[in-house]
Amino acid sequence: MATELGIALLGAGTVGATVARELEVHADRLAARSGGPLVLRRVAERDPGRARQLAARGVTVDAEAAAAVAAPDVDIVVELLGGLEPAGTLLDAALQRGLGIVTANKAVIATAGHRLVEAVQPASGGLAFEAAVGAAIPVLAVLRDSLRGDEVRRITAVINGTTNHILGRLEAGDDFDRAVADAQERGYAEANPTNDLDGHDAAQKLCILAWFAMGAEVHPDQVQRRGIRDIDPADIVAAARLGSVIRLVARVERSGAGLALSVQPTLVPRSGHPLSDLEGADNAIVVESDLAGRLVLRGRGAGAEAAASAVLSDIVAVARARRAGREVPQPPAAPVPIQDGEVSETAAWLRVRVDGRPDASAVVVEALARGGVVVEQIGPGGSGVELVVLTRSATRAALDRSLTALEALGVPVKVVQHLDRLGATA
Ligand SMILES: NC(=O)c1ccc[n+]([C@@H]2O[C@H](COP(=O)([O-])OP(=O)(O)OC[C@H]3O[C@@H](n4cnc5c(N)ncnc54)[C@H](OP(=O)(O)O)[C@@H]3O)[C@@H](O)[C@H]2O)c1
Repeated sequence: MATELGIALLGAGTVGATVARELEVHADRLAARSGGPLVLRRVAERDPGRARQLAARGVTVDAEAAAAVAAPDVDIVVELLGGLEPAGTLLDAALQRGLGIVTANKAVIATAGHRLVEAVQPASGGLAFEAAVGAAIPVLAVLRDSLRGDEVRRITAVINGTTNHILGRLEAGDDFDRAVADAQERGYAEANPTNDLDGHDAAQKLCILAWFAMGAEVHPDQVQRRGIRDIDPADIVAAARLGSVIRLVARVERSGAGLALSVQPTLVPRSGHPLSDLEGADNAIVVESDLAGRLVLRGRGAGAEAAASAVLSDIVAVARARRAGREVPQPPAAPVPIQDGEVSETAAWLRVRVDGRPDASAVVVEALARGGVVVEQIGPGGSGVELVVLTRSATRAALDRSLTALEALGVPVKVVQHLDRLGATA
C-alpha cells in the first residue's frame, strides 16, 4: 500500500473550496491516478464559518497560512490565496521545506516563477501552475510538452474572461458601469476589478505564455498594456459596422529584433476569427509555430470548476513525481531583447471627428502619411461627422507620431478613438 501524501490548502475561496470538495468526493479516482492516497490535512482559512465546516470534516484549520506550510504532516502545498503577498513568501517557505507545490497564482508566477522553479528541491515533486493561464485550457502543457520541437512564432489570445464578458455586455447594449456590475454579479470580476479592466491580469498571463512558448524571461512591466476603460458603446457600434468586435487581445510575437508583447483593446473580424465569438468568460489562445502551424485552444478561462480541473491535474502530477523521487519539469527561461515602439508593429483603426469638413479624407490621409502610416481604407462613420480609418501595419511609434500630427490639425479634426486591429488570419 502506497503511503499517504498530506496536502495543505492555502485559501478556501472560490477555487479552493471546489478543490477541497473534489479531493474528498473523488478521493479514489485521484488516489488511483497519483499512485496512492492524497489526504487534505490542513486548510488555511480566516473565515470562522468556513473553518467550522472544514473542521467538521476532520481537516485541521489554520488561521495563519504559514502554520499550514510549516506543519510536519504536509507533503504538497496548494496555494489558492491569489495576489503577490503573502502568497510569494509562503511559496518560498514551502520550497525551502522541500514540499511539492501547486498554485493558480498568475501574479506570483509572472513575476517570480523562474526563480521559484530554480529553487525547487530534488525529489520534492516540483512546482506546477497550469491554472494560472486559461483555467481549464491546458495551454501550458501543450506549449511545454507537445511543441518541444517547434519554434513558436506568435501567440494571439483572449485570456481575460472578465473583460470579454464586459465587452459582450456592451455589444448587447449595456453601459460600461452596468456591464462591470454584471461581471461582478456573475463572479467573473472581483470587488476591485482594476487588474482585469486595466489589462494587468492579461499581461501577467502573457508573460507566462511567453516563458512557455519562447523560453523568454519577461516581466509584466515590459508588456505594452492598455485596458478597456475608455471603450465607449459608440466604438462597439462603429466596429460592428465594419463586421468586427472589440476584444482585449494579448499578443506576443518573435522577430529578429526580439519579442513584442502587448495587451490592447483590439478590433477582431467577427466572421471566421477564433477570438471573435467567445461567450462570457471563455478564453481562446491561438498558437502559431513553424511545424504545427496554427493551433487554437479554447474553453472555460475562469470559474471554480474550470480552475479546479487544472489544479487537481497538477496535484496528481506533483504527487506522482514526489512518489517517484522526481520533480515535474518546467521549461527554462532566459532574458530576451524586447521590441520597443520603434520596432513593434500593428495595424490600427481610428475614429476621427471631422465635423463635415469637405477635404477631411485627404487631410487625414496626408497627416497620417507625415507620421509614416499608410491608410488602407477610409470612409464616413455612422454619424456623418466622423471618418473611420483602417491603417496598414506600422510601428507603434509611427502611429503615435501620426496621431500627434492629426491632433495638431486642430478643431474640427479630433481623434476620438484608436485601437489595434487584427486581420482575418492574424
Ligand atoms: N476564480 C477563478 O475563476 C480563477 C481561475 C483561474 C485561476 N484563479 C486563481 O486562483 C487563486 C484563487 O482565486 P479565487 O477566485 O478562489 O479567490 P478567492 O475566492 O478570493 O479565494 C481566496 C481565498 O483565500 C483567502 N485568503 C486570502 N489571503 C489569506 C491569508 N493570508 N490567510 C488565509 N486565507 C487567505 C481568502 O479569504 P478572505 O475571503 O478572508 O479574504 C479567500 O477565502 C488566485 O490566484 C486566482 O488568480 C482563479
